[in-house]
Amino acid sequence: MAIQRTFSIIKPDATRRNLTGKINAKFEEAGLRVVAQKRIHLSKAQAGEFYKVHAERPFYDELCEFMASAPIVAQVLEGEDAIAKNREVMGATNPADADAGTIRAEFAESVGENSVHGSDAPETAAEEIAYFFSGLELVG
Ligand code: CMP
Repeated sequence: MAIQRTFSIIKPDATRRNLTGKINAKFEEAGLRVVAQKRIHLSKAQAGEFYKVHAERPFYDELCEFMASAPIVAQVLEGEDAIAKNREVMGATNPADADAGTIRAEFAESVGENSVHGSDAPETAAEEIAYFFSGLELVG
């Protein structure tokens, strides 16, 4: 597998509890490098645009409220097979189903407030990175 980049968010439930460093340590221990990172406070409209693929889901409004409720840390992670590796390190969306040692098993509070987001495919990774970062901000 070639070196790949993926998009990651450390979500409001985690920034509120000051967990950015602990979560980054999990990424780094798994061989992922943080090649771009910024802490921002999304508006509800910006969160809605980012998650528009979920617009028809019953939890969409709650999700947008939550993502705008406190700062997030938007990141680009780089490494061998980064998309799959990041998903492995995050664990299942619902922390009740997440394997021991994963970020969501250790830190997530619920299926909605689940500490991290990670891209699910190369096309979404490219789109999500471009939503938050310019090429100049990606420093490998
Ligand atoms: P994420 O990986 O960021 O992708 C979509 C998000 O929607 C997901 O993580 C959760 O935060 C949220 N989500 C998924 N399912 C539910 C649900 N059943 N109730 C509330 N939020 C959910």
